Amino acid sequence: MTVSDEAVQAAVDPAVDNWLDAGWSDRELRADVSVGLSSTPKELPPKWFYDDLGSELFDEITRLDEYYPTRREREILEREADAIAAASEADCIAELGSGTSTKTRILLDAFAAAGQLRRYVPFDNSAATLRAAAREVADAYPGLAVRGVVGDFEHHLGHLPLDDVDAPTGALPRAPAMVMLLGGTVGNFSPARRPAFLDAVAGAMQTGDTFLLGTDLVKDAGRLVAAYDDAAGVTARFNLNVLSVLNRRLGADFDLDAFAHEAVFDAGNEWIEMRLRSLRTQTVHIPALEMTVDFVAGERMRTEISAKFRPERVRAELGAAGLVVQRMWTDAEGDYALTLARRVRRT
Ligand code: SAH
Ligand code: TRP
Repeated sequence: MTVSDEAVQAAVDPAVDNWLDAGWSDRELRADVSVGLSSTPKELPPKWFYDDLGSELFDEITRLDEYYPTRREREILEREADAIAAASEADCIAELGSGTSTKTRILLDAFAAAGQLRRYVPFDNSAATLRAAAREVADAYPGLAVRGVVGDFEHHLGHLPLDDVDAPTGALPRAPAMVMLLGGTVGNFSPARRPAFLDAVAGAMQTGDTFLLGTDLVKDAGRLVAAYDDAAGVTARFNLNVLSVLNRRLGADFDLDAFAHEAVFDAGNEWIEMRLRSLRTQTVHIPALEMTVDFVAGERMRTEISAKFRPERVRAELGAAGLVVQRMWTDAEGDYALTLARRVRRT
């Protein structure tokens, strides 16, 4: 790279705040794995799926025939982006779990067309994916201030940079911001943890800001299971990849051929549960934790839940966090919902 190339590069590289120093992430991973693998039944939290390969595999999942949520969410965004811009009145979009920011562009285009696009804040714990996405968006939308955050949305929402620190002091109160969480990601929290998460989201917002939430809806179990157990086996590879993450980062010796992917719909809880089933009796060593873990043949370890919602439940849970639903849109088939809620003053 010549000096002038570097200058060009620097000019387009958007600012990225990083709250995930290596030490913090390692401590989290160790705590999660030692608690999860000594529980009965064994369990691994889903945020560790998304290393570089995991992010790529997820991107592949979003393009599978069986995986309807991405398609449905895109349909709603294409149909309603102008309405979302108008109803939110926002000039700043902050996106939690932004990944590759692909669907985001539908909104960025609509906000730009309405003359209300000033700032985009993508927030993800997958650093490489976030940096690449932030750079691509900054390149595609000249004049848009892109301020990325590498962070964990279960811990770092207090640092969400919705306010423009460069704004002149004494400026009028800022325009509303719109925080969003797409992809049905809210369904990956256990119901017990969702209220605290939604409270933290509301806490990061000011009165008048809005929250745009994508939720997959309860439907026929056959279609649900197919979406999480595709014929090409991409979801199986994605699920098994979490074991590679533990092998690489903790020196573990999981044999990926000795576990099988499984997706079942739990009708009582209305969630899809992803598991890894041990194909034989085996012992796994995790040197970084000085831990050995025994599996019996057929034992299941839970790696993810993906909750499916009913509209009343979305409304109730948002309301409990002080987020009042203004609009709710579904696709023509009733597969998926996008909800826009406004933060009200809490008494
Ligand atoms: N918004 C995209 C991606 C959804 S996948 C879409 O709709 O297709 C979930 C994303 O959330 C991934 O990019 C993953 O890296 C990120 N993620 C998962 N857990 C996270 C956490 N605890 N903190 C921050 N980001 C997280
Ligand atoms: N948020 C996505 C969902 O719940 C994540 C996801 C899709 C996923 N497929 C998966 C997570 C397979 C684990 C395994 O739909």
